[in-house]
Amino acid sequence: MENQIRYFCDIVKEVFNDENVETETSSEQIQVEKVISRIYKLFERDASIDPNLPKLRKKVHSRILHSWLMTLPKNYTCLDASRPWLIYWILHALYLLNDMPQAETLSHIVNFLKQCQHKEGGYGGGPLQHPHLGTTYAAVNALSIIGTDEAYNSIDRSKLQKFLWTLRDVDGSFALHKGGEQDIRGAYCATSVSKLTNIYTDALFDKTAEWVVSCQTYEGGFAGCPGMEAHGGYAFCGIACLALLNRTQLCDVDALLRWSVNRQMRLEGGFQGRTNKLVDGCYSFWQGAILPIISAILSQENKELIETVLFNQGALQEYIIVCCEAPEGGLVDKPGKPRDIYHTCYTLSGLSVAQHGTGAGDALVIGTPNNELNRVHPLHNIAPHLVYNAIHYFIRHPPPVKGDEK
Ligand code: FPP
Ligand code: ZN
Repeated sequence: MENQIRYFCDIVKEVFNDENVETETSSEQIQVEKVISRIYKLFERDASIDPNLPKLRKKVHSRILHSWLMTLPKNYTCLDASRPWLIYWILHALYLLNDMPQAETLSHIVNFLKQCQHKEGGYGGGPLQHPHLGTTYAAVNALSIIGTDEAYNSIDRSKLQKFLWTLRDVDGSFALHKGGEQDIRGAYCATSVSKLTNIYTDALFDKTAEWVVSCQTYEGGFAGCPGMEAHGGYAFCGIACLALLNRTQLCDVDALLRWSVNRQMRLEGGFQGRTNKLVDGCYSFWQGAILPIISAILSQENKELIETVLFNQGALQEYIIVCCEAPEGGLVDKPGKPRDIYHTCYTLSGLSVAQHGTGAGDALVIGTPNNELNRVHPLHNIAPHLVYNAIHYFIRHPPPVKGDEK
């Protein structure tokens, strides 16, 4: 890896100041900082003896991810309507760890996702379930990760496009499912799957960029819909959607930059999702990926911050590796929380973003060089070459029936 520099605890860690006003929020923040400071102190003691620390325990994470792919713990029954999500999170995490399942397993997954595909287009959370844009996005990403002709050909793109038309409102927004509420996740998921499968048309996304921009708040981040609170998950969807639509000039990028850099926590090093809330490992991706997207926008506009990593790459990696690994594999939101598949996927995705920077020679891997993960495309959260492969496959194989039908 280019420009690899050993990072060694050189962060100024600043504690929270409640300005003598104690609230539930301030007490929770102080409590989290106490736990995390203790963990960092122990880590610094160990790291002064072993210069290869921190070490990402790739093998234990791989082992638990492979086992989750075969059998889920009982408490996952509540995610029975999110099975394509579970598949995408597991496959993507395994891809990041460079330990993909065998071809036969991948072919079983393609067959399972086929059963989740609805007869009217899009994917449900499981076989015979109603289609939903979230699970459709997850299924398309999972199939693009698998990347075989069998996987690509299993997607009924004509019906997928029809499904998207049923979710579109006249103002350019998208609901997540029939009769559901309009939400910025809908706009992002619709744009992402359309671009990957080459069913995008200008008509399908007419006014979508304008609607997304109406979700940008006074803080600079994006909310789920106009008038609500800015949040990292929604801010990622907003800027990634605008970038995919090539319309980032419509939003206030400087305000988004100011808001998102301020979500990186001074002591913890990880990100919070919104102002005055707690650090959480999953925002390592949702917030962390916003910053390379902004770097790319600024570099296109020839602004000063060209090819500059806009957050503290070392501090984020330290939070993820030192504070978020569960002892038996898998990663967590914050110390003391149980591991889960969602947090395993998004902490590792964020770790990859932090290691690879803008991709222009500013990579930085803390700890042992073996900590390096595979790269992600910040707009789709699958590998860059898998995005390229899917788009080019679908350009070469147009859908069997006429294009843009309502
Ligand atoms: C708040 O949870 C969480 C939200 C308001 C939504 C989060 C949205 C995403 C993660 C984006 C999803 C993206 C796609 C592509 C479907 P909370 O109140 O429990 O957490 P907090 O205290 O950290 O805000
Ligand atoms: Zn989380």
